[in-house]
Amino acid sequence: MSNPTTPPTDKLDWQNIGFQYRDINGYAKYTWTPENGWDEGSLETNPYLNVHMCSTGLNYGQECFEGLKAFRTKDGRIRVFRPHENGKRMNLTAAFGSMPGIPEEIFLEAIKKTVQANLEYVPPYGSGGSLYLRPLLFGSGPMIGLSPAPEFTFIVFGVPVGNYYKDGVKPVDACIIEDFDRSAPLGTGSFKLGGNYAPVFLPTEKAKKQGFPITLHLDSKTHTYVDEFSTSNFVALSNKDGVTTLVTPNGRTILRSVTRISLVEIARDLGWTVEERDVPFSEIEEGKFDEIAACGTAAVITPVKRISRGEKSYNIGSGEQTEIGAGFEALYKQYKAIQNGDIADTKGWMWPAEGF
Ligand code: COI
Repeated sequence: MSNPTTPPTDKLDWQNIGFQYRDINGYAKYTWTPENGWDEGSLETNPYLNVHMCSTGLNYGQECFEGLKAFRTKDGRIRVFRPHENGKRMNLTAAFGSMPGIPEEIFLEAIKKTVQANLEYVPPYGSGGSLYLRPLLFGSGPMIGLSPAPEFTFIVFGVPVGNYYKDGVKPVDACIIEDFDRSAPLGTGSFKLGGNYAPVFLPTEKAKKQGFPITLHLDSKTHTYVDEFSTSNFVALSNKDGVTTLVTPNGRTILRSVTRISLVEIARDLGWTVEERDVPFSEIEEGKFDEIAACGTAAVITPVKRISRGEKSYNIGSGEQTEIGAGFEALYKQYKAIQNGDIADTKGWMWPAEGF
């Protein structure tokens, strides 16, 4: 059923919005205390927060975040992609980081409040953009000892976005980060803690200056298995004897990317073989994969045409492609068609089905 909503604002150049912060109309904010649990929340407009200088979020990095997107359909519905999955993942991270969980109804209410307050910032249908939603949870109350905060803040803010990497779905050059380990074998890699991300700023900046817009990590213990990209998960395709196989690591250190689990499901629907397993880097050296891509909410699918490790460089396919390969294109088309409402959402991934 069509539900006419507020049209996109004409104040933004929707074809060139990139991936950058912009102030919009408001965001949802909730506060938790041990005495009262989560409060009823409010819609705020001031992007500057009143947070105690001794908060555990600021002092000890007791913080986690999520990323998900709202899309506009051709008939004007605005729907969010798989928010229940992000809510579940945030609670797994919260438990690991000694933070209070967010009940599903509060998580969804926060998403709803933020989207509804910013309908004009959901990019036009077909523009390739979305309203990127960023749930944040952190210790906001003072605690100088190494213990959880006496107060937590949960926020969902939104940012209208286009492509994360400026070339969109054009194949890019990747390099392996050799001098920094993203995730310890029994560490925090599979959780969306902010502290997993700041340490990659330095190596990724260095890589960018050397001509690599995207960076890949190997397992910390042996540097022989693929871990994930700094921004997103690793997925690879091979075609042999008419069988397409999607291979993706899914181990103890890998973030449970909602994009990855969705692509896996679409690949299975297409009748492809899926291997969720450890991926030795030697398989890339040996040219076992016809296509490789990074996948995540922000980056969506970013094809990789070459991977450099030190002085050596390994072509994926010809290594000279200028367009996404046929395999990932098929997955990408199906994935975008579900998000944009161009095909029926038989999986119930878009929420709410009728739109905001
Ligand atoms: C996302 O894809 O939503 C992320 O969290 C990636 C982020 C590091 C930009």
